[in-house]
Order: sequence, then structure tokens, then C-alpha cells
Amino acid sequence: MCASETHTGSKALARMEVVEGDITRMAVDAIVNAANSSLLGGGGVDGAIHRAAGPELLAECRTLGGCPTGEARITGAYRLPATYVIHTVGPVWQGGDRGEAELLAACYHNSLEQARQKGVRTIAFPAISCGVYRYPVMEAARIAVREVREFLERHALPETVYLVCFGPEVCRAYRRALEEIQEGR
Ligand code: APR
Repeated sequence: MCASETHTGSKALARMEVVEGDITRMAVDAIVNAANSSLLGGGGVDGAIHRAAGPELLAECRTLGGCPTGEARITGAYRLPATYVIHTVGPVWQGGDRGEAELLAACYHNSLEQARQKGVRTIAFPAISCGVYRYPVMEAARIAVREVREFLERHALPETVYLVCFGPEVCRAYRRALEEIQEGR
């Protein structure tokens, strides 16, 4: 590992923050959408993002031809305060032996890679798969925190990653997952 990477690595956790709130109001370079494979909108955070971005977001999504689970696609953000929306498709929880953990990890990695390639400095993630897709929240939070940290240890961009929780239960889980990794557990 070269010096600059080591330097970046030592600050990785300091570049991560758990926040509680509505991701559509985050004035960051990119917000991540927990979409479905059609990319044509839905409920939950997907619905909130499309409502706030306006119809141009759906129009651009229509040109993308969908997105497989675990992958990510980047679009404009239109009426949102962000510059980009990165749409990623989380796994539906099916008990844990259908590759869900690897697919969820891929959502974080691929979204961060899309952001890095666009020079994104600040990015906000919702709790991917923790709603309609019924992923156990504590497990999802551990995967999120681990994947984000690993990426930030290797790359200078994004500079800051916000893990945005929409409610106290998810917030507690993400804060606990971050504490665990900070304590080296
Ligand atoms: N800001 C931040 N987080 C939010 C917001 C919001 N405005 N609205 C909902 N959330 C949270 C939910 O509380 C949950 O913790 O986002 C997390 C993810 O839940 P979902 O939005 O249900 O996403 P997911 O579980 O990945 O299911 C995706 O749901 O909305 C549909 O089209 C979507 O089919 C796809 C599926």
C-alpha cells in the first residue's frame, strides 16, 4: 500500500457519518436511491426521490433499460439539491442463503465506484434493502459500514459518506455498526 493510500486508510472511518433524516433534502453531490430493477420508481425512498426530483428523473431512468440487482446507474438529480442520483438495486431478503450479503455489499461498492468516476466528493446512502426488501437491519448496517470503509481506505473520493437513516431503529443499528467497526470488532 503506498503512503497516500495508507494515509487515506487511517482517516476512512472519520469520513463516514450516520445521520437521521430525509435523504431528498441532503445538499450533497450525490444521493443513492434504493431502486428496483426496472428503475421506473416505486414506494419508500424510491418514491420520495422521484417525487422530489420531478418527472425528468423518470424520463432519464426510462433511457437506462433497468439495472440488475447489486449494480448501480447514475443520473441527474433535477429538482433535488443533489447533483446526481445513483440508483442501485438491493437484494430482497430471502433468508440469507441466496447471496444477499454479497449483492448488498456490491450495491455499496458499485455506487461508490460510480460516484468516484464522476468526481463526487459527498454522497448520501439510504439503508438499502432495509424496508420493502426486508433485509435484517443490523446485518445490513454491518455490511454497509464495512463496504464503505473498505472503499474509502483505497480511494480519496468520495471524501465524505453519509449513511442516512429514516427513523430511530435504523439509526440505532447504523450507529452500533459504526461503533463496532471503530472498536475493531
Ligand atoms: N430518506 C431516507 N431514507 C428513507 C426515506 C427517505 N425519504 N424513505 C424511506 N427511507 C428508508 C426506509 O425507512 C428504509 O429504512 O429507506 C430504507 C430502504 O427502504 P425502501 O425504500 O423500502 O427500499 P428497499 O427496502 O431497498 O426496497 C426497494 O422498494 O420503494 C420500492 O421501488 C423500490 O421496489 C423497490 C423497493
